[in-house]
Amino acid sequence: MTTKPTNRAFRRRTALLLATLLATGSSALAQVAHPEKWPARKASVLVDRQAERTIDRMLARMTLEEKIGQMIQGEIRSVTPEDLRRYPLGSILGGGGAAPLGATPRSGPAPWVASRRAYDAVALEARPGHEPIPIIFGFDAVHGANNIRGATLFPHNVALGAARDPELIRRIGRATAEESAASGIEWTFAPTLAVPQNDRWGRTLEGYSEDPALVASYAGAMIEGLQGRAGLARPIARGFVAATAKHFVGDGGTHDGVDQGDTRVSEDELIRIHFAGYGPAIDAGAMTVMASFNSWNGQKMHGNRSLLTGVLKERMKFGGFVVGDWNGHAQLPGCTADHCAAAFNAGVDMAMAPNDWKALFANTLADVKARVIPLARVDDAVRRILRIKLRLGLFGTPRPYETKPEVVGSAQHRALAREAVRKSLVLLKNDGVLPIKANARVLVAGEAADQISQQSGGWTLTWQGDGNTNADFPNAQSIWAGLAEAVRAGGGTATLSPTGAYDTRPDVAIVVFGETPYAETAGDLATLEFEPGDKRALALLKKFKAAGVPTVSVFLSGRPLWVNPEINQSDAFVAAWLPGSEGGGIADVLVGTADGRARHDFTGRLSYSWPRRADQFALNRGAPGYEPLFPLGFGLAYAHGGQTPRLSEDPGLDAASVNRSVVFSRGQVRAPFALQADPAIRQEPVDTEQAQGGALRFGWSGTAPVRLRFTGPVLDFAREAKADHGLSLTLRVIGQPAQAPIIALAGGRLSGAGLVAAPGTWQTMLIPFACFAAAGADFSRITDYLTIEASAPLALDIAEVKLVGGADPAKCPARP
Ligand code: BGC
Ligand code: BGC
Repeated sequence: MTTKPTNRAFRRRTALLLATLLATGSSALAQVAHPEKWPARKASVLVDRQAERTIDRMLARMTLEEKIGQMIQGEIRSVTPEDLRRYPLGSILGGGGAAPLGATPRSGPAPWVASRRAYDAVALEARPGHEPIPIIFGFDAVHGANNIRGATLFPHNVALGAARDPELIRRIGRATAEESAASGIEWTFAPTLAVPQNDRWGRTLEGYSEDPALVASYAGAMIEGLQGRAGLARPIARGFVAATAKHFVGDGGTHDGVDQGDTRVSEDELIRIHFAGYGPAIDAGAMTVMASFNSWNGQKMHGNRSLLTGVLKERMKFGGFVVGDWNGHAQLPGCTADHCAAAFNAGVDMAMAPNDWKALFANTLADVKARVIPLARVDDAVRRILRIKLRLGLFGTPRPYETKPEVVGSAQHRALAREAVRKSLVLLKNDGVLPIKANARVLVAGEAADQISQQSGGWTLTWQGDGNTNADFPNAQSIWAGLAEAVRAGGGTATLSPTGAYDTRPDVAIVVFGETPYAETAGDLATLEFEPGDKRALALLKKFKAAGVPTVSVFLSGRPLWVNPEINQSDAFVAAWLPGSEGGGIADVLVGTADGRARHDFTGRLSYSWPRRADQFALNRGAPGYEPLFPLGFGLAYAHGGQTPRLSEDPGLDAASVNRSVVFSRGQVRAPFALQADPAIRQEPVDTEQAQGGALRFGWSGTAPVRLRFTGPVLDFAREAKADHGLSLTLRVIGQPAQAPIIALAGGRLSGAGLVAAPGTWQTMLIPFACFAAAGADFSRITDYLTIEASAPLALDIAEVKLVGGADPAKCPARP
């Protein structure tokens, strides 16, 4: 690897200068929108005169408590059906990885339908003075009904963008709606209409494109696919669900690509780029809009009345309701998860209050009584929620799809997902090795080749998409299984070898590798370099190259990444994104006939620009100095190939200098964190199910600390400690220690008893920063990051340690 220090120093200085300019300039950018600048609409497609009269009558009968209840959504893991008798909540959500009532996570549709009915049984109970109103049950069906076992998993949005096919999107929406409805769920928190502008952002995979026009062309199609066409006078009931246009607005524009960060742009740019999908979504009748975690020029969206009310509801005549994001209200100044008048007053109609719904209910009620929240605001919010419940046909007969579990993972839906996989593959290089002759001897290598969880990414059965095995995907096919099927059908031989070892020399090796699953903040990156400092895939490719075996790289990722060295070592390189359950779609395009003709050509074209260097974070067409490796819209095909010259292997930026979130991954400490273990602790690599040497074993022979120190300039997590961030540790304990370990972060000490609770099994523990802060941690200037103090006879296998969002500060380990 060659580096040019002078260049690099120059770039760093320029970046610093720019950052200073931006920071000082940001105060000059407005936070209050001017609605007259925004597109306008005359009326809402969701408002029907007759339904409004029904709502008038309901509102007249409802108590104030019942109205407040409608405005609050709790999470299935913390609300029982009986709770609804005292707290008449309007909605329940199942968060990523949630289990239905009385069942385990990764359940099929039946217990979900039963849960939904159990809540409604109480909500609709005839009780004196009670207005029976069905709950609305929501979950994140972001690439199919992805929380349901056996569901069809469509490629993530980053892949669908490459297909450039709005009709395909509409059909996917329809299929997702059917599978959700069959699982008792009538509302999905999708589609994400983010227009990601910085590929470091962990949610880039949830956006269709960096190009606002492409997002706009998909938005209406997806809403109509999920909800059916707008403008119908009758309720939507035949297997359609309510959609959510999210996250309003500017989620994809945060400074540095930091999740939940600040979008520092002018109002014109907010409209032109980040709002692009909302006009078409609202025209298509989007029933709900989710307020975003991000700020606009320093002000959190959950509190931005000018945008939520002035622009969205008044100017755009959005007639549905605004749902908050997961405790998103808690991030407003002066607010907490259990108390926040400001969000309701700004225009949030329903707060997503997963755990703190009880106290939020009491506090909101008090706020309305004290006129801190006007009653008219409450009536408006409840009217909007009832409007959607009526349109969804929730009152009255059960929804027809609740008795159709067979649509979940049906052959027809899987065929559609497979078509989507074929259409979203982007061919970046082909020096003639593709298509593979079906009668060839094919070796399929790479850690990801036979991992359905990895090809599916985050938001798959669990929130982070972690902890799943192939057995958890009954209606799915791994990439390896699809390739094997195609090659064997064509008379060839296919062998799976994740490590790349072989006895008989293959004609070609297909190497499947890429990002491991993540969601939200956990996916934020320091740089765009793939496998910084590790380069396992590259090593594998080099091995084949040295042996003269031609290689085809199948790269799985939620965004474009800097893979120049890997491209150089490959004879063909395919960006396969996160294809989901239908691995066979890859074989459809890569494996041709026995005489070498293609069965399907590549048609996918990049919906994100591909970086030439690892420091091209905000690489978007039209931006100054646009110098991509592959521009937006790029994609080779069999019909029109092209030669790829050797690429520079200078990443442009030192990854370690900017990493703040990943302390430990795949069993290795990540720079600029450094490991300091007492000599009384043995260290040895151990394998995990995902990777050889995927964890590091620490074996204690006395009492001693393991320290993970931050060696970079300044680590300041004060903001993260106030929001819902925490430390996620993936580990396995071997043996029982004499006394419970102590786990310390930034100087706050907590009992590590939870770490050693379940010996022998892999577990992921999430400890909120807030808990360490309560124990005295100082997050504003961290040097000693994490310390684990333990004693013999204990061994810990640590696979991963990283910063994530979504920690529940109420769940603190004890103090030692
Ligand atoms: C995410 C939303 C999601 C919600 C519920 C939040 O953390 O930002 O996109 O819909 O959780 O899972
Ligand atoms: C939930 C997700 C949610 C996240 C919020 C998780 O515990 O399962 O659905 O998006 O928290 O940060």
